[in-house]
Amino acid sequence: MKLYDAKDRVLSPEPYILGIESSCDDTACAITKGRKVLSEAIISSAEIMELYGGVVPEIASRAHTDAVSEVTGRALKEAGITIDKIDAVAVTYGAGLLGSLLVGLSFAKALAYSLDVPLICVNHIRGHIASAYLECDELEPPFVTLLASGGHTAILYTKDTKHFECLASTCDDAAGEAFDKIARVLGLPYPGGPNIQRAAKDGKACISFPSCETRDKTRVRFSYSGLKTYVLNYVNSKKMKGEEINIGDVAASFQVCAIEPLVKRTIEYAQDLGVRYVTLGGGVAANDYLRARMEEECKKHDLWLILPEKRRCTDNAAMICAEGYVKYTAGDFSPMSQNAEAQIPLESVLKT
Ligand code: KG4
Ligand code: ZN
Repeated sequence: MKLYDAKDRVLSPEPYILGIESSCDDTACAITKGRKVLSEAIISSAEIMELYGGVVPEIASRAHTDAVSEVTGRALKEAGITIDKIDAVAVTYGAGLLGSLLVGLSFAKALAYSLDVPLICVNHIRGHIASAYLECDELEPPFVTLLASGGHTAILYTKDTKHFECLASTCDDAAGEAFDKIARVLGLPYPGGPNIQRAAKDGKACISFPSCETRDKTRVRFSYSGLKTYVLNYVNSKKMKGEEINIGDVAASFQVCAIEPLVKRTIEYAQDLGVRYVTLGGGVAANDYLRARMEEECKKHDLWLILPEKRRCTDNAAMICAEGYVKYTAGDFSPMSQNAEAQIPLESVLKT
C-alpha cells in the first residue's frame, strides 16, 4: 500500500531523514535512511559552558546560530548524499532553551520549505525514547523505557508507536540534575554526570545515603531532592569540621544510591507488564554503572535490553531522525506555524 502526504506526494518506505537537535548546548545534525544512521555531526559548546559552570542560554543560542549550517553540511558530506535526496526534515521543537530551539526550528523550516519536503517537529523526550529503534531493527512496541536525563526521570511504557504511559517518575529533581549539582559541590567540572562516574571509579560505595525512592499508596515515585540535600550537607559539614572528603567514595556512594532504585523498578514494571524489551534513554543512560547493572538484571530476568550507544543517550540528532521516521510512516507532519516550546509536561509528551 502506498502512502501519500497532504500534497499527494508518495512517501518513501525507507526515507532519507535529516534531523536537527538544538535544545541545549549541542548543535547536532544526523541523516538516517529508515533505521540506518548514515551520518551524525555535532558541534558542542560544552567547553565554553564549562567556563561558566553550566549552560548560559544566550551564549548557547549564539553558538547554535554559528554552528547549525556547518553541522548540516558535515552531516550531508559524511552521508555521501546531496541535499535533494532528503525526504523529510525532522527537528526538536521542545522542550529546551527557547532561544536554542528557535535556531534549529527556524533552520529546519527553511530547509523543508526550500526542498518542498515535509517538516516533522519532534518532542525531545520522544526522541530519547525512539533512540532505541536505531540499535535494533526488530524492536517494536510494547517495551518499557527507563528515561533519565537532565530534565526527566521516568519509567515509561510504549504500548505502540502512539500510546505511552508513565509508570513512575520523579516528584522533584531529575537524576541528571542531581549528578550535576553534586559534581559541583565536589568541585568537579560541568557536565557533572561523566565526572561523577570518573571519580566513582576510584572510590567505594561505603557511605550510606538516603534512598531516592518514595512510595505513595499506589505508585512508585523517585525523589532526588532529598538525596541531593543530604549529600550536600554531608560534604559541607565535613568541610566545616576540616575533615578530609574522599571524593571517590562520595561519588560512588551517590551513584549507587541514585541508580539502584531505577534499575529495580524498571525490571519490576517490565516483568509485571510481560514485555520482552527494556530500553534506556537520556544522558544518564550513558552511565557505565547503570548500563552494567541493567545488563546484569535484564539477563537475570530474561529480558532483552536495548542499549543505545552512549553518544545516542545524551542529546543527539539521530534520535530526532528516529522519532521523525515513526511520524513519517504515520504521515504525521507539522505545519510551518509550529512554535518552539520551552516546557512540555510529561503527560502531554506522551499524548500524540
Ligand atoms: O539527555 P541529556 O543529554 O540532556 C537532557 O535532555 O537533559 O542529559 C544530560 C544529563 C546531564 O545531567 C548529565 O550530567 C547527565 O545527563 N549525564 C550523565 C552521564 N553522561 C551525561 N549522568 C551520569 N553518568 C554519565 N556518564
Ligand atoms: Zn535530552
